[in-house]
Amino acid sequence: MNETVVLKDLQINAGDNILVNKTSIVIEEGEIFGLVGESGSGKTLTAKAIINLLPKGLSYSADEIITAGKNMLTASAEEKKEHIGKNIGYIPQNTVFYLHPMIKIKNQIGDGYVYHMHKTKKEALEKAEALLYKVGFKYPKIVLNYYPWQLSGGMRQRCNIAMALMNDPKLIIADEPTTALDSTVQRQVMDLFRTINEEMKLSILLISHNLGLVKHYSHSLAVMYAGQIVESGYTNTVFSNPKHPYTRLLIEIIPSFKIKKDERLAEIPGLAAENGRDIKGCVFFKRCPKAMDICKEMVAEHIDDKHDHYYRCNLK
Ligand SMILES: Nc1ncnc2c1ncn2[C@@H]1O[C@H](COP(=O)(O)OP(=O)(O)OP(=O)(O)O)[C@@H](O)[C@H]1O
Ligand SMILES: [Mg+2]
Repeated sequence: MNETVVLKDLQINAGDNILVNKTSIVIEEGEIFGLVGESGSGKTLTAKAIINLLPKGLSYSADEIITAGKNMLTASAEEKKEHIGKNIGYIPQNTVFYLHPMIKIKNQIGDGYVYHMHKTKKEALEKAEALLYKVGFKYPKIVLNYYPWQLSGGMRQRCNIAMALMNDPKLIIADEPTTALDSTVQRQVMDLFRTINEEMKLSILLISHNLGLVKHYSHSLAVMYAGQIVESGYTNTVFSNPKHPYTRLLIEIIPSFKIKKDERLAEIPGLAAENGRDIKGCVFFKRCPKAMDICKEMVAEHIDDKHDHYYRCNLK
């Protein structure tokens, strides 16, 4: 099995403050990989590190960052930009309002295709029309002539997905793509991601605070807490045998697949840790119902033989 993303031991800092650390992810070719965690846990920054889009002022280090076959740690700035533009479709957080509301769809959807793939505007519009049809618009020519403000949230998100598909990417990163949508529309948009994944065989990094949604749609997942991945593995394995107390609590709280508009990750008792705090020991120490004295000082990493289940915890 080839990998679309290999991220090893990522650390992201804002000055002395560690925002993300000890973070490793492998996304296999053709899979939907769910990255789940509460607000501020480091999901967006991790995704941005993969595609070389970290905000200015932040620094990072990693043992390995391979994105769609390219080593991001050795490529030049120019090479990285070109590679990402051609191979990754990115749907940033809050993109339901990402398209410029006052510019017609046809004048925004093909820009990246013209720029990165060296195509004409006409070729871009032909491709956009086909993709708008694919994402569910019966009359794509009409949609191309709409302004985004004339479309519903769900329709705009479909346009964003079509736009992300323009360059035939190997990976789509979708950061909370359904949070601002009503539940039926959320399901339709998520079903569309699944269809795209199955038909086009591309990998999807699905970032979500909704564990129920990730369970339903992803093949593998990673659970983030306070800037670290506390557990990861194949979705079936993690759900049938969750190891980390944080994952267990989340699973207990969200027993079934339900998605509601703007739903946040269910609350568990205690204050959320600040990222990077107590990194000598376990980041979940203060909230953990099973915490032991040793957890303040160190935390064990478990990787099984087949590398399909990882967790950071002192419990066996
Ligand atoms: N440019 C920045 N400078 C300093 N700190 C930042 C910056 N961007 C993010 N952070 C901090 O890094 C942490 C992780 O942020 P990130 O945006 O990755 O969280 P997230 O898991 O995506 O949260 P959400 O679910 O709210 O989108 C947060 O504590 C955030 O405040
Ligand atoms: Mg985010």
